[in-house]
Amino acid sequence: MSEIAGSKSNDGAGQMLWGFWYPALRSDQLQARRLRRAILLEVPLVLGRDKAGRPFALRDVCPHRAFPLSFGQFDGASVECAYHGWQFDPHTGQCRHIPSLTADSKLKCERIYAGSFPCEERDGYIWAFMTNPEGRSVPASVPTVPELPTFSAKYKIAHLWADLPCSVDHGVIGLMDPAHGPFVHQAWWWRSQRSIRDKAKQFEPIPNGFRMSPHAPSANSAPYKLLKLITGEPATTTIDFVLPNQRFEQIRAGKYWLSSRTTVTPVQRNLCRLDFVAAWNILPWFPIVSFIIHVLGPRFIRQDTEVIEKQGLGLQYDDRMMLVDDADRQARWYFDLKAAYLESQRSGEPLRHPITGPVTLRWRS
Ligand code: FES
Ligand SMILES: [Fe+2]
Repeated sequence: MSEIAGSKSNDGAGQMLWGFWYPALRSDQLQARRLRRAILLEVPLVLGRDKAGRPFALRDVCPHRAFPLSFGQFDGASVECAYHGWQFDPHTGQCRHIPSLTADSKLKCERIYAGSFPCEERDGYIWAFMTNPEGRSVPASVPTVPELPTFSAKYKIAHLWADLPCSVDHGVIGLMDPAHGPFVHQAWWWRSQRSIRDKAKQFEPIPNGFRMSPHAPSANSAPYKLLKLITGEPATTTIDFVLPNQRFEQIRAGKYWLSSRTTVTPVQRNLCRLDFVAAWNILPWFPIVSFIIHVLGPRFIRQDTEVIEKQGLGLQYDDRMMLVDDADRQARWYFDLKAAYLESQRSGEPLRHPITGPVTLRWRS
């Protein structure tokens, strides 16, 4: 058994990870010429779309006197602060105009910048690359935005979300925790405590994360049985976790596929947002998957949200956690990966992956 002490340890627990893309808003929350606020990693952002529809993300703090830029105006080309009318380029944050300056002023307003963050739209989300809290000195090369894998030209897509009142660590380890399923997600259509059985799953390291190798999905859950029934093919599932916060799951059955991604994004120290996106090509004319995702998905997420709300009542008194044997091994790996990432940031060396080869984990769930 191993135990780690929440925020009291120095292995990355309690820390938010900089240098990654995070979803700030869903695409449909961002209309043309409207400014919208979001918070990522405790950084206030103002987001919008330029005339061409391209999204942008600035730090929502005017460099003049900290007035939130989100109270200002956006004409499709410049963001104007509502306090003294300074204007900023929406993509670079460069100051373009200071109305109070006289014609002979020596002040070079182009040297003033609002903090800005690389911003892109993908899979129905507006993503911001969180370099550092100030939104300064964007690195020369930014990795590509995470993309949900899809396997055919036509597919359906759906988005679900929820606020999780917890730290990013508790949110993320909840994503990869196999032991809570039979207790928290009890339902006739999913599983019950009586359905607990021995599991053995093979894992392997992948860049910045780990993979539960392709395997037949849990025999004790109804949706997978149904999938086998409708496709007539045996299904395989592959589940990946990738830093900082992404869980991918792919289910393939012959030519049919379902691909999903869940992210737990830190908003504030004790508040996260869970975003779930799924795409599939299974029986598009018969809305069974749509039903599972739109009706059963929110119930599933509500069960997790409720458990996290209740857990918060206890965490106020004791934020230590015990990570016990193989059922909690993935959580342990998450903290190890986090620590390895922070160390590589500090040293400039490549990340030293904490998992060195294939491992089989055994638990009951
Ligand atoms: S505070 Fe923004 S222009 Fe003065
Ligand atoms: Fe859950």
